[in-house]
Amino acid sequence: MEASNLRNQGAGTVQTLVSNAKYPQVVMPECQVPKSLKGQRALVTGASSGIGKAVATALGQAGADVVVNYIGGEAAAEEVAAAISEAGVRALAIQADVSQESQVKAMFAGMLKEFGTIDILVNNAGLQKDAPLEDMTLAQWNTVIGVNLTGQFLCAREAVREFKRRGVVKEISVSAGKIICMSSVHETIPWTGHVNYAASKGGVMLMMKSIAQEVAPYRIRVNSICPGAIRTPINTNAWSTPEAYEVLMTLIPYKRIGEPDDIGRVAVFLASDQSDYINGASIFVDGGMTLYPGFATGG
Ligand code: BGC
Repeated sequence: MEASNLRNQGAGTVQTLVSNAKYPQVVMPECQVPKSLKGQRALVTGASSGIGKAVATALGQAGADVVVNYIGGEAAAEEVAAAISEAGVRALAIQADVSQESQVKAMFAGMLKEFGTIDILVNNAGLQKDAPLEDMTLAQWNTVIGVNLTGQFLCAREAVREFKRRGVVKEISVSAGKIICMSSVHETIPWTGHVNYAASKGGVMLMMKSIAQEVAPYRIRVNSICPGAIRTPINTNAWSTPEAYEVLMTLIPYKRIGEPDDIGRVAVFLASDQSDYINGASIFVDGGMTLYPGFATGG
């Protein structure tokens, strides 16, 4: 299969970690993105930075036209779109707050007007508003549930409506559409000080599986990616100093932080016909964070 020549972030580089002298060096993978999404049209929410940016970029490298949704930071979103279009595909930045029904509807109308239809939705937009339970405000709770959970529902509903209207076009894909929900290891790992976030991701898990069950007969696939700790702005305090990085590594058996490209590659796979028989699955991309690392030395 034809593949993009663009290098992954950090490919071939070596990460060294003070406390890991006894383990092999960490070498970052050098992978090519297969052109497996040629002719498909994708919408990635929250795509102006972090995981969303890497996913939107990878989908573009794989041959998809991409809508880069953003809420703030128009310039950053336009930059992502411009970089994606260098791969020879169409890319368009559209602003919308995914927690607002009217803005979601307007975003889909804009995409359908420009691209004609949608084949791939990546429900990525998400945020954290952390606080101990007794200090957490209702606004913090509602904002996180609104964006992380309700936003995914609103976008999935619009996408499914269009997938069902259009049906399968077998020259494009053997399925009528694909939805990828960005969940988290915290759809299963409880998280002190983040009850709104963990509740939203636990909700994403059963929302995703219930939608998958409902729409599978229409040839629509719905899955989740559950990232662990990925080097993005949402968790800078967990990796930006050597001390913080050492502590983080106690939670990651594979002994390296995830990079946004680790998620981008999995998104391309889940959006392509290569994964046609995967439906309703939570795919953990976490270096083993969900393996109860504390039990490596205890229990
Ligand atoms: C959170 C990050 C965190 C990671 C692992 C993600 O879902 O957004 O802040 O580092 O989970 O705990």
